[in-house]
Amino acid sequence: MRAAVLDAPGPVTNFHIRSLPIPEPRPGWVRIRVKAFGLNRSELLTRQGLSGDAVTFPRVLGIEAVGTIDDDPSGTFIRGQQVATMMGGMGRAYDGGYAEYTCVPLSQVIAFTSSLDWATLGAIPEMLQTAYGSLTTGLDASTGQYILIRGGTSSVGMATAILAKRLGMTVLSTTRNPAKTDSLTRIGVDHALIDDGSIARQVRQIVPSGVDAALELVGTPTLHDTLRAVRVHGVVCFTGLLSGEWVVKDFYPIEYIPGGVRLTAYSGEASDLPPAVLQGFLDDVVSGKATVPIDTVYPLDRVREAHTRMEEAKASGKIVVLLDSAPSEVNQQ
Ligand SMILES: NC(=O)c1ccc[n+]([C@@H]2O[C@H](COP(=O)([O-])OP(=O)(O)OC[C@H]3O[C@@H](n4cnc5c(N)ncnc54)[C@H](OP(=O)(O)O)[C@@H]3O)[C@@H](O)[C@H]2O)c1
Repeated sequence: MRAAVLDAPGPVTNFHIRSLPIPEPRPGWVRIRVKAFGLNRSELLTRQGLSGDAVTFPRVLGIEAVGTIDDDPSGTFIRGQQVATMMGGMGRAYDGGYAEYTCVPLSQVIAFTSSLDWATLGAIPEMLQTAYGSLTTGLDASTGQYILIRGGTSSVGMATAILAKRLGMTVLSTTRNPAKTDSLTRIGVDHALIDDGSIARQVRQIVPSGVDAALELVGTPTLHDTLRAVRVHGVVCFTGLLSGEWVVKDFYPIEYIPGGVRLTAYSGEASDLPPAVLQGFLDDVVSGKATVPIDTVYPLDRVREAHTRMEEAKASGKIVVLLDSAPSEVNQQ
């Protein structure tokens, strides 16, 4: 099979398209014929050598994938069944989705049925799981509330905006780049804000008492300001760290957290995305009630370009790799 192998942490040139043996599922695992996968920031951190000792190299990265069941020795799934998988050590503890086949534990496989194209399907699993989990477990969001999304053009930020609009919320989303505000308004964001480091002031011009909920995706450099954009008894959920900074230094809660504002966090697995939620979202995309924020679709051979686009923060939405898009020669570098 063809796979994008990362030989060692470092630049994108450490990715090589190689021919590897098709992996065999161990007991309790399945083999998936990968059709597409979305790129994730955590894979950038792994590529940069920031994932700690948990990752050894060479490694096939990829914390998520969609495709069809190729072999399930347990008989739980039927060969050819459409499935999504994510997390659970994929692309870190064992080889992940950047390949034509991947083997994963049964416990992290979600079956679905959809007529959507594979590129669209590939964009969805991890992005939807994170957005859904942040809105439900993290923020306990409800209809009629105001939500601030800090890091709004990220794929998780855009997916959260789409789910929040479906729920009947008013959405305020940030970007540092004025050229990207259109991509926010196109998906239904009510107020696209330019992040100049002081969003709380801008938010309170729109919602003087502060928003009900805020999703922090940039990290600790903006967290204090995000907390100040939220009303008393409102919630901030720390889900992302786009800045690469996630530790609050010299944390003194009374000074750091405004009185009455609640701070929580979210980190999810495949089991945090109920199959009915995934299926419902896919059906809504088919019927036009929901959209999927896709930035660019690449063939596997161009994984270096895809990672460069992610690293340079050029995307608005999800970067996807489609496996069968272009037959390619195996590059035995
Ligand atoms: N907790 C969880 O379970 C979980 C799961 C998945 C992802 N995450 C995290 O969620 C975050 C979003 O992930 P993603 O894959 O959706 O990201 P993404 O699509 O790659 O996000 C790209 C956008 O992030 C913004 N950005 C990049 N560097 C930034 C910086 N230094 N400061 C502020 N904004 C910056 C840029 O927006 P502008 O240029 O428009 O400002 C860029 O377009 C990541 O931190 C990821 O690790 C968490």
